[in-house]
Amino acid sequence: MERYIMKGGVTLEGEVEIGGAKNAALGLLAAAIMADEDVTIENLPDVSDINQLIKAIENIGATVTRNDRHTVTINGKTIYSHIVDYEQMKKIRASYYLLGALLGKFGKAEVALPGGCDIGSRPIDLHLKGFSALGADVVTDHGMVNAKSDQLVGNNIFLDFASVGATINIMLAAVNAEGKTIIENAAKEPHIVDVANMLNSMGANVRGAGTDKIRIVGVPKLHGTVYSTIPDQIEAGTFMCAAAATGGEVLIKNVIPKHLECISAKLVEMGCTVIEYDDAVKVKGSDNMTCAKVKTLPYPGFPTDMQPQMAACLALANGNSMVTESIFENRFKYVDELNRMGAMIKVEGNTAFISGVGGLEGTQVSAPDLRAGAALVIAGLAANGFTEVDDIVYIQRGYERFEEKLAGLGAIIEKVDTDKEGQRFKLKVG
Ligand code: UD1
Repeated sequence: MERYIMKGGVTLEGEVEIGGAKNAALGLLAAAIMADEDVTIENLPDVSDINQLIKAIENIGATVTRNDRHTVTINGKTIYSHIVDYEQMKKIRASYYLLGALLGKFGKAEVALPGGCDIGSRPIDLHLKGFSALGADVVTDHGMVNAKSDQLVGNNIFLDFASVGATINIMLAAVNAEGKTIIENAAKEPHIVDVANMLNSMGANVRGAGTDKIRIVGVPKLHGTVYSTIPDQIEAGTFMCAAAATGGEVLIKNVIPKHLECISAKLVEMGCTVIEYDDAVKVKGSDNMTCAKVKTLPYPGFPTDMQPQMAACLALANGNSMVTESIFENRFKYVDELNRMGAMIKVEGNTAFISGVGGLEGTQVSAPDLRAGAALVIAGLAANGFTEVDDIVYIQRGYERFEEKLAGLGAIIEKVDTDKEGQRFKLKVG
């Protein structure tokens, strides 16, 4: 099974280019099926989550052309099925965006309920309530959600929680509904704005995305477009933390610095230097990183998807840090693994209490989920000796050529498939 093996203790130096945002791209791909014309999406990350959703879109009959590694053209005219089965949902949870897109376009959708996830229970009740509010009959039966309506009609929808998924899914369903929809307490994450921008470029009328009140006036039809995905806030943040944890100096290119402000502010508070350029940030680590308190919150708060990577940095910082997770209930599974590397972290309820240690020791660890896996790689890059991170399929869901980009910054890291390859790597790097 593929794993990363690395020799830690090298300060990362140089430049790295950030790809398109995975979580935005998932929404854009679903939106693309709503037109009966060509929709070309550029700057797609080549990661397994995206490739799985593209397969799910092909499976319902859309015409999909891969123009190159990062560009796809989708035409929804040939769609012949409104059913997304559990096999697809198992592979990629965000297939549930096809529920909103198919319901919005055809007035019917049948999509398997997403299963439980490794970071906590992830219900979709808010998505379904939103569809009902638009006039759809929504029935859950034998693990399938069946939503249908002869004509969706706009409505005022208040989300009990500013859910990213529910906001995007309701937006997709509402763009073709009759009349006006208002989503209140909407999520404000950058990818919500990105999906709204692409829908508008397809002829939709969506205003207010990025605020907590989104107004949508339904239009009968969407048309084709060419659209480029925004840069990935979380990939960028991960490299920022990798630079900080190794005490390096890295220029992170193709980013929107505004999207990174809460991460930059936290690193500065910890003693690192962050310089913002128009479309890049430079992070310089500190020999003397200090503790901090972090609490995850919906955007513009500190992203839950950066919580494990930041915790890996704080494990190395002086003093006692606190990391509170307020979005998902089970996002500390990496803590035991970090503690096996010599970190001193205790979890009580939704808070991790971190006593900074001078250094970590390399060992064999397993990635419990996508971002936790990235955190373990960061820890391994900073640790003494060799670290092996198993179960990297999780990491590959959201990071394109992760090990290559890190190696480009001087990291001694390789993806290996067998023990023999691992031993060869160890011999090679000494
Ligand atoms: C998205 C991101 C994920 C990120 C998360 C929070 C994508 C594909 N994934 O996930 O990487 O960690 O936002 O920023 O963009 N909730 C309900 N009912 C619902 C929906 C959500 O109770 O119907 C709860 C969830 O259990 C969770 C919280 O709301 O506690 C936030 O979830 P949400 O914002 O919906 O996250 P996702 O869209 O699943």
